[in-house]
Amino acid sequence: MSTAQSCPLPTVSLSKYLEEEGQNKNEESQLLKSSLPAENDCYTQAEDPVSDVPKYLLELGLTPECKQLISSLPAEKGWVANLLHQYQGFWHTTRQLQAVLTCQNHFQAQDTDILLVTTPKSGTTWLKAIVFALMNRVQYPNTDNNHPLLSENPHILVPFLEYGLYIDSQVPNFTTFTSPRLFATHLPLASLPESATNSSCKLVYLCRNPKDTFVSLWHFTNKLRTKDMGSNSLEVTFDKFIRGVSLYGPFWDHVLGYWKESLENPERVLFLKYEEMKEQPKLQLMKLAQFLGCPFSNEEETRGAVDGIQKLCSFENLSNLEVNKTGKLASGEEYKVFFRRGEVGDAKNHLTPQMIQKLDQITEQKLHGYGLKF
Ligand code: A3P
Repeated sequence: MSTAQSCPLPTVSLSKYLEEEGQNKNEESQLLKSSLPAENDCYTQAEDPVSDVPKYLLELGLTPECKQLISSLPAEKGWVANLLHQYQGFWHTTRQLQAVLTCQNHFQAQDTDILLVTTPKSGTTWLKAIVFALMNRVQYPNTDNNHPLLSENPHILVPFLEYGLYIDSQVPNFTTFTSPRLFATHLPLASLPESATNSSCKLVYLCRNPKDTFVSLWHFTNKLRTKDMGSNSLEVTFDKFIRGVSLYGPFWDHVLGYWKESLENPERVLFLKYEEMKEQPKLQLMKLAQFLGCPFSNEEETRGAVDGIQKLCSFENLSNLEVNKTGKLASGEEYKVFFRRGEVGDAKNHLTPQMIQKLDQITEQKLHGYGLKF
């Protein structure tokens, strides 16, 4: 596989960042302390304090290798967590970076695995639901009153590699997975574990236009901020987003990496857009099933299986299920934060005309010549 473009961002080292931000000594030592935990914190032993902030945003439980690496990486102030670190061209929170490293070192992909890849807020929850329903439709027809999607959140049914499986452990329990195993990740192409890059596992990439992605991310991260933290302004986060400083950003590099790969290896990477899934859900579902090697038969089409899966996984259906209204992930997020409006074009309700123009301009520049448009 080819690697993603490296990121031409104006970044600074942690100390320079602190200097430029004009942090006073107290703030500085606090930031550094939380960024580089005490030597006796150990990945396998550390316990995070009770907190409202999701686990992957906390900063304890790092291996010495991760601490060492972090001290050499560019850092910027995060949207929720204290810091984002730029690793292999993309931005990660502290604890999540630990999980990325663990995943890179330990994950053993199988040729039959299916990886669902997105940037945050591109419709990951939706894609997880759809692919789960597609792949398991013989065992669980969409008409089944006991369908797992009716009682479990899609993030439980299709776990993230770096958030879910490798956040706490170097050796996650894979015994409950049957082949083909379904996983999700936000990792950019260049940071995928080597075993995934070298295997023939299939990748489904879902992206969304950057304006709606940004607005969704702004809402989402504000929901994750505690009362004490207050909300981030649209302007401050917008500035970070366009500089590429967002979770798994730069957005454009992430998307381009998989776009190029999908052109080079179409049998390996399927590239989907949120907007097209909204516009032509049936067509996209059939494309997806074909790509995954489980096309719909004529008989299935006739009895409405495609429409049934589409309905089962719709925003209206999933967001109104009791489980998704009341449940929460072990890492702390309530399921309901993954369902907001689920529409195309909501950005225009939040962004100024200038912001829209700026984002369009950057998108045009970054994607120019690659045949990808939003
Ligand atoms: P909005 O904030 O624009 O409403 P992710 O799953 O990657 O975290 O993305 C979350 C975004 O996808 C949110 O967008 C959310 O409302 C939307 N979403 C969640 N479930 C969806 C579904 N079944 N269909 C369409 N959009 C959905």
